Amino acid sequence: DVTFENILVEIVGSGDRKTGLIRLNRPKQLNALSDPLMDELGRALLAFDADDGIGCIVLTGSERAFAAGADIPTMAPHTFMSAFKSGLISKNWETILQVRKPVIGAVAGFALGGGCELAMMCDFIIAADTARFGQPEIKLGIIPGAGGTQRLPRAVSKSKAMDMLLTARMMDAAEAERAGLVSRVVPADQLMSEALAAAETINGFSGPSTMLIKELVNLAYQGPLTDGVAVERRYFHALFGSDDQREGMDAFLAKRAPSFKHR
Ligand code: CAA
Repeated sequence: DVTFENILVEIVGSGDRKTGLIRLNRPKQLNALSDPLMDELGRALLAFDADDGIGCIVLTGSERAFAAGADIPTMAPHTFMSAFKSGLISKNWETILQVRKPVIGAVAGFALGGGCELAMMCDFIIAADTARFGQPEIKLGIIPGAGGTQRLPRAVSKSKAMDMLLTARMMDAAEAERAGLVSRVVPADQLMSEALAAAETINGFSGPSTMLIKELVNLAYQGPLTDGVAVERRYFHALFGSDDQREGMDAFLAKRAPSFKHR
């Protein structure tokens, strides 16, 4: 019932829980992330997050570009005051961080500027061998505005992040995998099957486990180690109150496949 103009949205998969697939779709602008696109993306993400039939979300672009950054023509006329007052690159860019279900980024082609930043806001990135990552904002006389200076050094080391941010050079898929920016690299024609298979695997697990892992890994990544370990221990204990723990362990001991209840 909702129609989108800048993204394509689909539900895919064969199990009882399915995958929400979102494709960025402004091909003429290499999926430049305009405000209308980011509004639609936020709405689609929240709708999938609220849908009990969906276990996991895959976010992708086209073969040529995941996204070539924020939309330069609409950014160009801004002044400090208009950027500040309108909250340029603001609320609609962070909606993805509210999503509790896993979001897999499937990246082919360019992931530049805001495109690289959006990919880094996914829970993990599967890259096609054609993927190219970069933060070229410095060439426009600006700096990243959607977390690039903060997430890139956490993902790839300080030295590599400084190199990418200060020289604006692009990193190919092999370098991105070596640096830890992406979890796997696959031939371009296998990108979607690989990402959807990973999603399908996740869909088969207990929903609360997947949501808690996401929350806790984000805590490991963002906060102090001791806090993360302490919170992890509490939730680990709490899951012994769950039917799915009983089912998962009973099934293992009985050498049968588990049938998880909480989705
Ligand atoms: N915004 C709007 N349109 C864009 C765009 C962007 N970020 N990137 C590319 N396009 C458009 C081009 O203007 C071009 O449109 P026309 O055909 O109408 O001229 C079309 O997409 C195809 O692009 P090119 O002809 O340039 O294609 P190419 O293959 O020669 O180069 C590219 C591809 C290297 C990605 C090049 O387009 C490029 O450098 N794009 C800009 C990348 C960039 O600077 N991104 C950062 C933006 S700032 C930002 O994102 C801020 C932030 O942190 C949030």
